[in-house]
Amino acid sequence: MNRLTKNAVAAATCWTLAALPGLVSAPAVAADNAPYKVVEGNKVDAHTLSGWKTWRAMACERCHGAAQEGMVGPSLVDSLKVLSKDEFKAAVLKGRIEKGMPNFDTSKMVSENIDSLYAYLKGRSDGAIQPGRLQEMGK
Ligand code: HEC
Repeated sequence: MNRLTKNAVAAATCWTLAALPGLVSAPAVAADNAPYKVVEGNKVDAHTLSGWKTWRAMACERCHGAAQEGMVGPSLVDSLKVLSKDEFKAAVLKGRIEKGMPNFDTSKMVSENIDSLYAYLKGRSDGAIQPGRLQEMGK
């Protein structure tokens, strides 16, 4: 990308962020607004890494599958394309007991890492983060 194009892209991005502050959490986030950072598919920022660790510690994969593509629970790759962040938080924290989704609000780890968990699963849903093991960027 030449310098002129880069500047144009930066200007466009700034304009979008300044003009549309309420849309940052809209479903179709541009890469710049994504809640996670990833390089090479499996190296993520520390925040996103905590989300993955929480996913592993809680063994969400028992029901949603190791690649989040669904088992007894639905595919979260699909769900995260439609759920808002608030809907996601409600589903995980309060659960849907009668439908087989446990509530995780009693877990300190989940309550403290709910934003990271969302970031990780959003990255999986966007196809930016690969399934499986992750490591921290630059380490
Ligand atoms: C014992 C099985 C089980 C476990 C463990 C489990 N889930 Fe679920 N989950 C489900 C089921 C079943 C549903 C579907 C509930 C329904 O039909 O509304 C669900 C629904 C969800 C939804 C809402 C999906 C949607 O499209 O509305 C999210 C988000 C979710 N689970 C995330 C998680 C996360 C994150 C964990 C780990 C912290 C987890 N789940 C652990 C069974 C499970």
